Amino acid sequence: MSNEQHDPDTRLRGESFFNEPGVAGFTHRAFTKSMGYDEADMARPLIGICNTYSEINNCNSNLRELADAVKRGVLMAGGFPLEFPTISLGEIFLSPTSMLHRNLAAMDTEEMIRAQPLDGVVLLVNCDKTTPAALMGACSADIPTIALSGGPALNGWFRGQMLGACTDCRRMTTEHQAGTLNDETYRLAEDNVFRSKGHCMVMGTASTMNSILEALGIALPGTGATPAVDARRVRLAEHTGRAIVNVVRQGLRPSDLLTRQAFENAITLLCALGGSTNAVVHLPAIAGRLGIDLPLDLFDTISRRTPVIANIRPSGKYQMEDLFYAGGIPALLRQLLPLLHGDALTVTGRTLAENVQDAEIQNSDVIRSLDQPLQGEGGLAILRGNLAPDGAVIKHSAATPALLHHRGAAVVFHDVDDLRARINDPDLPVTADSVLVLQNSGPLGGPGMPEIGNLPIPQKLLQQGIRDMVRISDARMSGTAYGTIVLHVAPESAIGGPLALVQDGDEIELDLTNRRLHLHVDEAELARRRAQWQPPALAYRRGYGQLYLRHVNQAPEGADFDFLRGRDPVQITLQPKF
Ligand code: FES
Repeated sequence: MSNEQHDPDTRLRGESFFNEPGVAGFTHRAFTKSMGYDEADMARPLIGICNTYSEINNCNSNLRELADAVKRGVLMAGGFPLEFPTISLGEIFLSPTSMLHRNLAAMDTEEMIRAQPLDGVVLLVNCDKTTPAALMGACSADIPTIALSGGPALNGWFRGQMLGACTDCRRMTTEHQAGTLNDETYRLAEDNVFRSKGHCMVMGTASTMNSILEALGIALPGTGATPAVDARRVRLAEHTGRAIVNVVRQGLRPSDLLTRQAFENAITLLCALGGSTNAVVHLPAIAGRLGIDLPLDLFDTISRRTPVIANIRPSGKYQMEDLFYAGGIPALLRQLLPLLHGDALTVTGRTLAENVQDAEIQNSDVIRSLDQPLQGEGGLAILRGNLAPDGAVIKHSAATPALLHHRGAAVVFHDVDDLRARINDPDLPVTADSVLVLQNSGPLGGPGMPEIGNLPIPQKLLQQGIRDMVRISDARMSGTAYGTIVLHVAPESAIGGPLALVQDGDEIELDLTNRRLHLHVDEAELARRRAQWQPPALAYRRGYGQLYLRHVNQAPEGADFDFLRGRDPVQITLQPKF
């Protein structure tokens, strides 16, 4: 009998599982004993270690070692740790894009937590999508949870210059294509950019989302910036193992911690970090699982009042290793306390303010003060206008200031294939003042909102020394990318959003101050084009792809599946007995 809807006794889920009457309990115990465990183990709270380790995911390659440390901690605190795998999303290994599979991984995590008799779970995550996917699933399952990331890789170094993945992968490729970097240097740099285990070491999506875990209160202090290969990361894993048993004892669920205030803290940290635009998709998706609405305008409101105080690439100068030496996310959060809900509860059993009260800044150039920030307001802005009625995102902290107020003629690419075919055509009618537009790259059109919003600069402009232009799409971009790039335009072009109606030569105006994105084409002409518009053929006719196309939401709702938003009315029963 399932104990999920009506648990008649006061036992934990795991204890009930091992003590079921009749053949069920006999089997549960006998089969567990086959792995070398005994009744003493089975009497303890059962802690699942949900591991996204995979050999086809370099960023998560230290999670086996961390799982062992978590187990030590669980055992020390009186729990019974059992590790299980879930889908791992290695950013560079997945086609057409890892984002297509984020919701699949979230379903895997949720269903495994639901189906197995766990009392608590530790989520081992790291690469870009593994963190939001696991957290989305855990929020839906809503049993006691702590997230632990694998940590950032060490700084790359080459000929005395600090390198970061993959801001420098892009920068050096651009210079190589422009002819300003020779073949040998380009190849040698490749050997030096990513020199340890861990995730990309600039403020990309993984750094952003794993730092945000601390602000959400769902991870221990130190999770965000402690390097993957530092012994302190292993100790953090052991502490996490001990902490999850306490969280089970207290019966603290994600829904007790991830309140609206916690999400506002997360957005404040995102803005202070100059963090990834991908968080503007992931945070509404995570919050949506708990029935919390995070409208895009909330990101803009918080961004306007939050200065960028993390001097980290691509918005700043340093990288995650430097942020760790400077005091890490706890020191940064302490600096931000006047802008945070410091009384938000966390998995330590203490408030966010209590967690960071002793954190000290060791380098005030890496972690700036609120009155000497890197930028006076947060790195993100939400744009609206007749080209993006439901909103669009720009990371202006990583843009060219002179382009943030710009009007230019559109050069339109119908989709990614069209972009690849024509971007370097010597006859492409493009100048430095043009606005590059990419259609059909949103949640449905991509599909999966691929990270191609940072359209390449046409080769002939590269050779003229041009390194940035205004670029607009319904796609996403990597958090490690930079430039004057408008993303996540909603509604997307594949469902007939205004982006689908743009034609070559149309004037487009970007006005950051007024948060405006305007297509200078009169309404009668737009109506004529709308009447002629034909939806593109969608990519999948079967399997997960078909499920995705039927149910994915637009970017402002987090591109989650419509049937997964909101809280499950049937809560998994927890019966602490301590
Ligand atoms: Fe995994 Fe960059 S590829 S974080």
